[in-house]
Amino acid sequence: MIQLINLRKEYKTKKGIVIGVDQVHLTIPKGEIYGIVGYSGAGKSSVLRCINLLEKPTTGQVIVDGVDLTSLSKDQLRMARQKIGMIFQHFNLIVSKTVFDNVAFALKAAGKAPADISKRVSELLQLVGLAEYADHYPGQLSGGQKQRVGIARALANEPNVLLCDEATSALDPITTQSILELLREINQKLGLTIVLITHEMEVVKDLCSRVAIMQKGQIIEEGDVYDIFANPVQPLTKEFIRNTLEFKLPSKIWSKLDPAGKVVKVLFRDDAAEQAIVNDMLKHSGIQANILHGKIDYIGDKPLGTFIMEVTGDTQEIEKALQFLVDRSCGVEVISRVGE
Ligand SMILES: Nc1ncnc2c1ncn2[C@@H]1O[C@H](COP(=O)(O)OP(=O)(O)O)[C@@H](O)[C@H]1O
Ligand SMILES: [Mg+2]
Repeated sequence: MIQLINLRKEYKTKKGIVIGVDQVHLTIPKGEIYGIVGYSGAGKSSVLRCINLLEKPTTGQVIVDGVDLTSLSKDQLRMARQKIGMIFQHFNLIVSKTVFDNVAFALKAAGKAPADISKRVSELLQLVGLAEYADHYPGQLSGGQKQRVGIARALANEPNVLLCDEATSALDPITTQSILELLREINQKLGLTIVLITHEMEVVKDLCSRVAIMQKGQIIEEGDVYDIFANPVQPLTKEFIRNTLEFKLPSKIWSKLDPAGKVVKVLFRDDAAEQAIVNDMLKHSGIQANILHGKIDYIGDKPLGTFIMEVTGDTQEIEKALQFLVDRSCGVEVISRVGE
């Protein structure tokens, strides 16, 4: 488990003090894949780098598996750090060293014997699917392969925690999927805690169980990924989710709609995603509904349904029908026309 307690990180610059992290309280349960989302400059990397004390917090505590890292001596911290692996957006491999030596480097630094190093590197390269590439140099590898080397190196000393700073941001979508798949596999096989920074909510949706949304150094919303997708509160959280779940009706369709009707987006959460609630609504009211778009996303294995429909009929009846949906815990949002 990782606990960040009232974490603050200030940077002293020529222009004065810049606040990277402000009042961050966070608990990351053991064995979870935890997402931290935010735009550039939000403080994500600063938080992550405080977890292994690559950045020393200005104030606050970083507690990993019960040990307060801010209280350790230099030597103790060096040992503690071996149990926290990290991977980076631009891989940070040593270009003059082979794949084998890049991975072996972390083991040598930890003082392991050569025979053990050789065995361990082979295991690691096997794990990340690069068994055939031990003698290659980073320059001969694709981006995805480089990140696999980065992952092997990060796992060398059998860490309990893996920190990922925009680990897939430099990769194409297909390679991103394969790296995310590898991270999931590692999480399940080795049971280690993964903290993953990203600016893509899609990555969070695919991989994480919990997520924190950051803005201006602070965590503005935090929770179970499904709950955050189903019930976002902060405008920024809604914006991030909109970028992944939103469907825009083509203007051609708008132009064909009845100007007297309403277009509503309905979010069906949990079990409601699989029930015939729209049918029931129509039975209970005297309105007509015309489904314009519908889809179900699966987050973890829970369904989250989104329907966009045009409803027409008596205004009061429409209100009643929409209330029927709200009463069944659906999210209901009236969408305005393009240009309105
Ligand atoms: N080494 C540094 N020196 C000065 N300011 C920094 C340094 N690192 C980060 N910052 C500042 O701290 C804030 C948060 O940055 P960062 O943690 O890198 O955000 P993110 O990873 O979300 O893009 C930004 O305003 C950034 O300019
Ligand atoms: Mg960053």
